[in-house]
Amino acid sequence: MSRAIPKRNKLAVLARNKNADESLRAVVALGVFDKSRKIIKRESSVEIPVIRSVSGYEIVVQEEPVYYRKTPDLLHALQGKIPQECINLRPRGWFLLGDIIIVKIHPALREHEQHIGRALLDFYPRCRSVLADEGILGPFREPARRLIVGEKTQTVHRENGVIFNLDARLVMFSPGNLMERIRMSRLGKGEYVVDMFAGIGYFSIPMAVHSRPRKIMAIEWNPNAYHYLCQNIRQNHVEKIVEPVQGDCAKATPEGVADRVVMGMVQVTDRYLQKGISALKPGGVLHYHQTIPSRMYPAAAIEDVTQAAKALGCRAEILGHVLVKKFSPGIVHAVIDARIDRDLL
Ligand SMILES: C[S@@+](CC[C@H](N)C(=O)[O-])C[C@H]1O[C@@H](n2cnc3c(N)ncnc32)[C@H](O)[C@@H]1O
Repeated sequence: MSRAIPKRNKLAVLARNKNADESLRAVVALGVFDKSRKIIKRESSVEIPVIRSVSGYEIVVQEEPVYYRKTPDLLHALQGKIPQECINLRPRGWFLLGDIIIVKIHPALREHEQHIGRALLDFYPRCRSVLADEGILGPFREPARRLIVGEKTQTVHRENGVIFNLDARLVMFSPGNLMERIRMSRLGKGEYVVDMFAGIGYFSIPMAVHSRPRKIMAIEWNPNAYHYLCQNIRQNHVEKIVEPVQGDCAKATPEGVADRVVMGMVQVTDRYLQKGISALKPGGVLHYHQTIPSRMYPAAAIEDVTQAAKALGCRAEILGHVLVKKFSPGIVHAVIDARIDRDLL
């Protein structure tokens, strides 16, 4: 049975092709991206579906929106299996890493989580296991995840022509960073790159596969993440480009050699800023990730870079900023791109 779609559901941000990536990131970060509709590419513009109007952007009403298949609702699958008074607490969203489903489960539903896991596996027959997600913890950025159905937690996740081997119980992988991984895959051709927080190769591997830098030094201190970093280097056949280094980037980062430095960490990244800047050759480019209050975006992160450069007698030319995603209530994950020159003036 088809239902009439209310007009407010057909709004879209109209962005020129050259601003499309940036507008999409902003729409996602503002939490107004309508995931039920596809992005439509026209000759010189794109229509990015939104759930409500956003100030500062040209808004159009789509005459012919194109819809994705709806995210399945667990309502029917859970009827009669979990207490009726809990049914509204059921998960409304989840994500897939390879053949593993990751889902957040309300604490009140913990004793019924096996039913939720089995219902999800019925929706995705090619998936093997379901993990309950309880956040990312500590300096190794390790996920707190419980296996609720199935046995395996190792998987192969494919995106943007890249293969990521990972164990979803041991290492993180943020679906919200997809656009940034794609952006990084377009940079670095012929360059010397230092990736100070390499993880399993989130940025290093796409960059190596698609842009072929001369060399990427990929530094990671978590033994589990380092294990998968090495495996992903081999599986994507980029051994001649990516050199994995196991250790603390505060000690392992080289000085004055890099055309580009990627600082893909959040919350504590400012502590490593001077190291990142010192790794650059004059005129090199820094990608500084940080979590900041949304009302201070992007000024707070720009200030971090400007001050750190100044303390080293350098000048930071801000090339741009990216809103990667909403991180937590009132906090966003931002990236600042800056060219660093040695002279203050
Ligand atoms: C948050 S993860 C990278 C996430 C990535 N931005 C993404 O797209 O999902 C950051 C990685 O940096 C590593 N790390 C944190 N501090 C480090 C340090 N001082 N030296 C080396 N690696 C570090 C963590 O172990 C983790 O694997």
